[in-house]
Amino acid sequence: MPYLLVLYYSRYGAVAKMANEIARGAGQVTDLDVKIRTVPSVSTVCEATTPEIPTAGPPYATVEDVRDCAGIILGSPTRFGNMAAPLKYFIDSLSSVWLSGALVNKPAGLFSSTSSLHGGQETTLVSMMLPLIHLGMLIVGVPYTESDLSTTITGGTPYGPTHMAGQDSKNPLSEEEKRLCKALGKRVATIALKLCQA
Ligand SMILES: Cc1cc2nc3c(=O)[nH]c(=O)nc-3n(C[C@H](O)[C@H](O)[C@H](O)COP(=O)(O)O)c2cc1C
Repeated sequence: MPYLLVLYYSRYGAVAKMANEIARGAGQVTDLDVKIRTVPSVSTVCEATTPEIPTAGPPYATVEDVRDCAGIILGSPTRFGNMAAPLKYFIDSLSSVWLSGALVNKPAGLFSSTSSLHGGQETTLVSMMLPLIHLGMLIVGVPYTESDLSTTITGGTPYGPTHMAGQDSKNPLSEEEKRLCKALGKRVATIALKLCQA
């Protein structure tokens, strides 16, 4: 069975909540599995080691998870207007996938969370697009036919769903944010399946 990979890093849980909504949306598409994977933290001080299996949440992604997927939805907290280092660190391990062309013409979507409303959600989504374009992927956003895009007063952008998590990262996902997560999940899953069958 082909699968859609929902791959994310989350330190405080906001992006993890979004990943679950995205997977729910993708799960509405039959004949395509959904695999949720995360990446370990990295240390600026020294080479840290973590157990092979995280103590909570989904397993860590492997290079093979990425190589063999039918599409990817990539999520990260916003860190200074950019994707978080752990996700970038994992992406930087994908040279073999780049060289093999395994992701060429496969669809990809993005999602992110910030503490503040104007804290760089869109630049973070764009920062995640860049390596995916190098890997040959087709970037899929959220179309304005999703009416929540025009009415949300929290997160949600045409470049991908976002969440305004607040200073303590505890804001629940708004109904608009949840629907936009599901919409992206379903859209990328639908396109991934069609391209698999083409
Ligand atoms: C080092 C660092 C940099 C951050 N930079 C930003 C930022 O540029 N804009 C913003 O609104 N929030 C910023 N934040 C807050 C996180 O984006 C926000 O708390 C996010 O919801 C965390 O997601 P998570 O709960 O999945 O870890 C930053 C947090 C950290 C730790």
